Amino acid sequence: MLTRCLTFGLPSERTGFEICCAAGRPGTRKSFWRTRLIRRTIELLRSELQGNQVQLHVALQPDSLALADKAQVQQVVFNLGMNAVEATQNQSAGQRRLELTTMHSHAAEALAAVGDSGPGIPEDQHGRMFEAFWTTKQNGLGVGLMISRSIIASHRGRSWFANNVDKGVTFRFTLPIMVDSDLTGAEAGR
Ligand SMILES: Nc1ncnc2c1ncn2[C@@H]1O[C@H](COP(=O)(O)OP(=O)(O)O)[C@@H](O)[C@H]1O
Ligand SMILES: [Mg+2]
Repeated sequence: MLTRCLTFGLPSERTGFEICCAAGRPGTRKSFWRTRLIRRTIELLRSELQGNQVQLHVALQPDSLALADKAQVQQVVFNLGMNAVEATQNQSAGQRRLELTTMHSHAAEALAAVGDSGPGIPEDQHGRMFEAFWTTKQNGLGVGLMISRSIIASHRGRSWFANNVDKGVTFRFTLPIMVDSDLTGAEAGR
């Protein structure tokens, strides 16, 4: 049952990656609200981006509704964003990039991508990336990717990564998009 709704917000008022949460119990009042989840997550990352001189590039497509839990999805974007910032640390300042993209992958899914200009993932490590406690960082915990994947899986989404053609890696995840019938009777609020 639909209980809340939020938006991956954009600089523009008219665009966003809108997500609805379906954490309600039967019989509870249906309602949803929109927040600017991506923008808020960027704000959380802002000091890291500035402190590490990472250029941020954001390209978000118009709203799409998807089933999700706001705090959890924010956690995923934050985890991926922090990994991207950390991955670019050994580059010269002018080359550090974080790219945040959202789009419709097809009719039933919304897709988000977090890409960076870091070294990418060595092929022999690909199989370990989502393992618990897998880390190559001196002070890493090695749980961010595992948690992110389990959050997305619990929303019936998919998550994966691929090295970029030029440099760096892009992590992607999908969330199911809500169809009109999911929203019937829902109370929309911004
Ligand atoms: N954007 C990235 N670029 C390169 N390697 C990455 C990236 N994101 C994750 N990794 C690799 O995956 C490992 C696990 O990441 P994560 O689960 O977030 O744990 P942690 O960040 O604590 O190491 C990292 O230690 C790193 O080796
Ligand atoms: Mg991490």
